[in-house]
Amino acid sequence: MPSVAIVGSQWGDEGKGKITDFLAEEADVVVRYQGGNNAGHTVVVGDQVFKLHLIPSGAIHPGKRCVLGNGVVVDPKVLVDELRQLWERGVTQFSLYVSERAHVILPYHRVQDELEEASRGDGKLATTGRGIGPAYVDKVARSGIRMIDFVDPQRFRQLLSAVVPQKNRLLGALYGHPGFDADEIFEEYAPLAEELRPLVTDTSVLVAEALAEGRNVLFEGAQGTLLDVDHGTYPFVTSSSPTAGGIASGVGISPRAIDRILGVAKAYTTRVGTGPFPTELTGATAERIRERGKEYGTTTGRPRRCGWFDAVVVRHAARVNGLTDLALTGIDTLGGFDEVKVCVAYRCGGRRLEHFPSSLQALDECEPVYETFEGWPEDLTGVERWEDLPAAARAYVEGIERLVGVPVSIVSIGRARSATLVREPLFPGKGAVLAPRA
Ligand code: IMP
Repeated sequence: MPSVAIVGSQWGDEGKGKITDFLAEEADVVVRYQGGNNAGHTVVVGDQVFKLHLIPSGAIHPGKRCVLGNGVVVDPKVLVDELRQLWERGVTQFSLYVSERAHVILPYHRVQDELEEASRGDGKLATTGRGIGPAYVDKVARSGIRMIDFVDPQRFRQLLSAVVPQKNRLLGALYGHPGFDADEIFEEYAPLAEELRPLVTDTSVLVAEALAEGRNVLFEGAQGTLLDVDHGTYPFVTSSSPTAGGIASGVGISPRAIDRILGVAKAYTTRVGTGPFPTELTGATAERIRERGKEYGTTTGRPRRCGWFDAVVVRHAARVNGLTDLALTGIDTLGGFDEVKVCVAYRCGGRRLEHFPSSLQALDECEPVYETFEGWPEDLTGVERWEDLPAAARAYVEGIERLVGVPVSIVSIGRARSATLVREPLFPGKGAVLAPRA
């Protein structure tokens, strides 16, 4: 049985939650490997809408083992709240495991995130304000607190009494912050640690054993390739590695353990927050995509910037992740346009660029070169098979396949689980997990 990685191929919000939920039906273990509660995964089951920020999207299926790997940063308050909300809504039949090596987000991280953002003036990154960046900075600076230490009261108190005075000096000197009280943080967080202790384990062992037993394992990426701290539009990126390369280090497994890498991409492009976006549209077309696609952030509610599909971006994602398959989402949103466009290259200072440039200046100056496709007027509600899609919609998907160079194995035409068309051979049963290609 293969292990399948699901990664974002654009700037996040590609519909990974829905695709993970769909594939999770056949998975035994669903693993997050990076990010934290900056993610927002929307899963629609019947008339219920679940918005998950931290817990893997696989949790909605009964009997799954869900894992937060060592590469995730965990806000204990958010995790306990999210667990309670799921339990209250009757979602109880999953088991959650949190890596002993995952780092903890504490109140000073959130405050530091806000203060740093405010101090950036016009150069704001528009972070989600959840303390993600500062928690990763502390991890790399070796002043973070790991779950294994968080759930040991003595050790937690000891670490807080070393870290909090340092933070107070830093935040006081830079921003005039009055400071935090280590004892207060301890009193507030010790009960949460108590609640989470039974979930904390060596998840690297758990995942390796599941793989060795031939279980289906899904790796669920958050954010997207263009938000990757190395491969994204730096500095307008998140602080982790959402690309496939982040899986091995963020879970504690070999890169050789990943069989298939499925890139999720919207049939158009969106971005929240600031930073380059070559195919961004303004005016009526953008507004129409935003309203039809309900393009508002799951985590912050911010309106998303919208534009045409950018094959240069997704080719970049195909290369840095080694995508074996694409899942194309939001085809329904594009219905009703007379024509739809795909950016095939950039024109920059008289040169044609085929590869996504690293230079922000080049990205600002470049003009998209578009290929135009015929639109399709039809409403796609109720379409159950690829063959029943309007010919123009199929031609559009095939055009993307050609321009990106990766086969589109899944086409999503709505938020519901049933609005998912699978084009490639699948495993027996309901066949949600992709079979290896010949
Ligand atoms: P941070 O991850 O909160 O530090 O935010 C850094 C950048 O990544 C900001 O532009 C955020 O809007 C963006 N970002 C973080 N998480 C997501 C996500 O799940 N979807 C889309 N954008 C995100």
